[in-house]
Amino acid sequence: MLLVENLSVGYGKMEVVHGVSFSLSRGRVLAVVGPNGSGKSTLLKGVFGAANVLGGRVVYDGVDVTRAPPHVKVSLGMAYLPQVRGVFEELTVRENLELALMSLPRSEGWERVEEVLELFPELKGLMNRRARTLSGGERQMLAIAMNMVRRPRLLMLDEPTAALAPKTAGALIRKILELRDSYNLAVVLVEQNARLALKVSDEALLMVSGEAKYLGSPEELLNNPNLARVYLGLSHAG
Ligand SMILES: Nc1ncnc2c1ncn2[C@@H]1O[C@H](COP(=O)(O)OP(=O)(O)OP(=O)(O)O)[C@@H](O)[C@H]1O
Ligand SMILES: [Mg+2]
Repeated sequence: MLLVENLSVGYGKMEVVHGVSFSLSRGRVLAVVGPNGSGKSTLLKGVFGAANVLGGRVVYDGVDVTRAPPHVKVSLGMAYLPQVRGVFEELTVRENLELALMSLPRSEGWERVEEVLELFPELKGLMNRRARTLSGGERQMLAIAMNMVRRPRLLMLDEPTAALAPKTAGALIRKILELRDSYNLAVVLVEQNARLALKVSDEALLMVSGEAKYLGSPEELLNNPNLARVYLGLSHAG
């Protein structure tokens, strides 16, 4: 479903991510972990088209989308939630969800939202609250729900659990796994909480200094004392 080949990404002419490759099938989660500044966000931006691709290619569903602008990628079923993410603070939850529907064909109405709300029942009681009054976890769910009304097949999340309490973070990750199962989604999950991400993912990519230091089984990465300790600060697998 998603094939990233030898992708180099940067800002202007400055290359930050150097020749990274991975592939991902539907129904699977890839965890992208690594130290601050190692290029995790830049890699996602490159895949989505929000940063400069300086080399390599991105193939989605058999189509080369390397140079396709973000709105085309969205229409093909790719969803991307940036690290600093967009809910409209002064609008209510309902209004935010209505906005998310706006670019869909007219025939697709509020049923889409109702369908997504089945997976986020927590939001049902918050429909008239302004987004700025939501908790971090609720806001995150709203941001994900806004993307899900388009029924994407690939969901790329940049640190969805940042600033959430451990319990809320765990609940949000479980929610993402539910979405994967209900929609047979491919998920790329960039996470600061490496242990949590590696425990729920099917594949792992360790970014170090803009390069893929490791690509493979999350469990092996967790149990690799050198990689896990040096780059992820994990003392031992647990
Ligand atoms: N808009 C930008 N313009 C120029 N350089 C940038 C820009 N955004 C990020 N960088 C640089 O690119 C490098 C990689 O940053 P990136 O945000 O991809 O790292 P990251 O792994 O996501 O880090 P974190 O875990 O802190 O989110 C860093 O050196 C950063 O300073
Ligand atoms: Mg980042």
